[in-house]
Amino acid sequence: MDVRIAPSILAANFAALGEDIRKVEEGGAQLLHVDVMDGHFVPNITIGPPVVKSLRKVTKLPLDVHLMITDPDRYIPEFAAAGADILTVHAEATVHLDRTLNFIRSHNVLAGVSINPATPLSTIEHALDQADLLLLMSVNPGFGGQKYIPYVTEKIRRAREIIDRRKLECVIEVDGGIDTPNMAEVITAGARVLVAGSAIFHDPDPARKLKEMLAIASRVGYDSRVV
Ligand code: DX5
Ligand code: ZN
Repeated sequence: MDVRIAPSILAANFAALGEDIRKVEEGGAQLLHVDVMDGHFVPNITIGPPVVKSLRKVTKLPLDVHLMITDPDRYIPEFAAAGADILTVHAEATVHLDRTLNFIRSHNVLAGVSINPATPLSTIEHALDQADLLLLMSVNPGFGGQKYIPYVTEKIRRAREIIDRRKLECVIEVDGGIDTPNMAEVITAGARVLVAGSAIFHDPDPARKLKEMLAIASRVGYDSRVV
């Protein structure tokens, strides 16, 4: 499996979302990361199912929907119907994690589980068989443009070991503060999908920036025998 970059539209221009998406399509994006925040689980409010539905109409890219919301079960059917391809819930916001992951899969959507930087891997380790994706937060969720928290690298390494040892299919995605200088560290530790918001969309030329990041991803991925 190769290393993919998921541009996070949180850093895009919401008044011209279609145009910004075309830029990252031109740059070779393989999926789009969509941050849903409820002002309750995290101290910020972003978008909901109607926007996912509109995105579905303007792009064929898989929509990787990150639910930073309390009581995610309540909204899973609506996000699935809106066209999400991956739905990721936070373990901290979910009381019955196995049930929630199976509920997502029952809608023919890939199921992801996410944990905040300070949440130990042991809270989700047992549910990894039910997860298609493990989203490790490398910033405290809520806002784009924050700094990568260095202790997360060791957590990525341990997650990689657990997944490889149990021969699981679960993909490790890392989210927050990713840019060209720390990509090698994150990929070498074991991440296979890197979310990047401000690094791409705050660049004057998002397509060029994404191409540059993809080139680094494939070089580092090759060196660390990922691709
Ligand atoms: C943080 C979000 C991230 C964010 C990443 O709560 O989940 O997806 O958009 O943005 P950057 O790349 O700017 O840290
Ligand atoms: Zn996210």
